[in-house]
Amino acid sequence: MTEYVKLIHGDKEYQLPLIVGSEGEKAIDISALREETGFITLDTGYANTGSCVSAITYLNGEKGILRYRGIPVEQLAEQATFKETAFLLINGRLPNRNELTQFSVLLNDHSLVHEDMRAFYENFPRSSHPMGILSSMVNALRSFYPELHNLEEEINITVTRLLSKVRTLAAMSYKISRGHKVVYPRPDLAYCSNFLNMMFHSPVRPYDIDEDVVRALRVFWILHADHEQNCSTSAVRLVGSARVTLYAAISAGIAALWGPLHGGANQAVVEMLTHIAENKNMRQTVERAKDKKDPFRLMGFGHRIYKTYDPRAKIMKKIADKVLAKFNISDPLLDIAKELEEIALKDDYFIEHNLYPNVDFYSGIVLRAIGIPTNMFTVIFAIGRLPGWIAQWKESMDDPNWKLCRPRQIYTGPAETNYVPIAER
Ligand code: ACO
Repeated sequence: MTEYVKLIHGDKEYQLPLIVGSEGEKAIDISALREETGFITLDTGYANTGSCVSAITYLNGEKGILRYRGIPVEQLAEQATFKETAFLLINGRLPNRNELTQFSVLLNDHSLVHEDMRAFYENFPRSSHPMGILSSMVNALRSFYPELHNLEEEINITVTRLLSKVRTLAAMSYKISRGHKVVYPRPDLAYCSNFLNMMFHSPVRPYDIDEDVVRALRVFWILHADHEQNCSTSAVRLVGSARVTLYAAISAGIAALWGPLHGGANQAVVEMLTHIAENKNMRQTVERAKDKKDPFRLMGFGHRIYKTYDPRAKIMKKIADKVLAKFNISDPLLDIAKELEEIALKDDYFIEHNLYPNVDFYSGIVLRAIGIPTNMFTVIFAIGRLPGWIAQWKESMDDPNWKLCRPRQIYTGPAETNYVPIAER
C-alpha cells in the first residue's frame, strides 16, 4: 500500500507518494508537484535529489557500505575478476563459466581499433592531457563503427567494443605521447594483463607480467567499477537521455570524470603529497584546507555521500602497503599520506565536517607503484568506471519512464527590459 507525505501550503493540502527502496531508503515522489501545486523544488548540487530508481549499486555513506547488484565490494575485490564484475554490473548477475568464456572471446575479437584512428593521436599536441584525448577518441569511435540496423545487436556490440577498445585507446595514447611504438592487444592475455602489456611492453624490453601488479590493477578497477549517481554517471545518464549514441554519452562521462573534484582527484592527491614532500609544509597544508577564505581543499578527503571512511579507501590503503612491500619500494608519499591522514582525523575541523579519506587518497600511490605515470591516473579510473557507466546508461534506456533530463530553475535576473539601440547606449 502506498504511503503519502502531506504538503501543506496555506489552506491547501497535497498528498505526495512515498517511495521506499529495497534497503529502506525513502524518497518523496514529486513528479506531479508542479502540475498539482505550481511549485518546483530547488536543490543546487542535487544533494537531496534522487534522479532515478536503480537496481545496480547500493551505497550507504553513513555506514560505509558499497555493493554491486547486492554483492559487497570487499568480496568482489577479494575474489572476482574485473571481467566478471563488468558482466555483473551490466547484466545484473554473475556469469556462468560458458558466459564468461563467450564474453572473453568477444572482448578479444573487438580489442583492435581502426588503424586510421592513429592519425588523430599523431596530431594532438604532445602536451595534451590523456583524458581530453580519450574523451575525443571515444566519441570518434561512432564514425569508424557505424550503427547497425538491429537495435539489440547494436547495443551489445557497442558495449563490447567500448569495454575492449577503451583499454587499447588508453594504452595507445600513452605510447604515442612518449614517441614509442604502439603495442597491440594479445589474445592470450587476460583483461588486466593485456592492458599492462600494451602500456609497458617494448621491443627492446619485454614486459614481465607480475601477478601482484595485475592484482593491484584488478582491485583498483573493481573498486572503481560503479558508484551510483555520481557526477560522471549522472552526466552519462543526462547526455544519454537526449538519445545520443552510447559513445557520445561515455565521452561526456569521461569529460566529467576529468575534473579535480571528481576522478581527477587521484592526480591532484599525488601532486599535493609531492608538494608537501618538497616543501615540508604538512601543517600549513592542513591549515590552508581549513581556512574559509582559501579555496584550497585537502585532496582525497571528503565525499558527497560518505560521512565515514570510504570502504574503497580502506582496501586501497592495504593494496598500497602490499605492493610497496613486494617491490621493496620506499615511497615517501605513502608515509606523508599516512601522517596527513592521522593529523586530519584528529583535527576538530575534519571531525566536525565528517571528512575522511576517499578512494583517491591512496589510489595514486598504488598506481605510481605499478608504474602508471601521474597524468594517466584518471584514464585508469575511466577504464574501471566504464562498466558502471554502461550499466547505468542501459538501465535508463530500458526504463519505460525515463525521459529527456531537463531540470528547471528559479529565474533571478532582471524583469522585462527594452532593447537599447547601440547609438543610445
Ligand atoms: N578539505 C577541506 N574542507 C573540505 C573538504 C576538503 N577536502 N571537503 C569538504 N570540505 C568542507 C567544505 O569546505 C565545507 O565546509 P563548510 O560547510 O564549513 O563551508 C564542507 O566541508 C562541506 O563541503 P561541500 O563542498 O559542501 O561538500 P560536498 O559534499 O559538495 O563535497 C567533495 C564533496 C567535492 C568531494 C569535497 O569533499 C572535496 O572537494 N574534496 C576534495 C576533492 C576530492 O578528493 N574529490 C574526490 C571525491 S571521490 C571521487 O569523486 C572519486
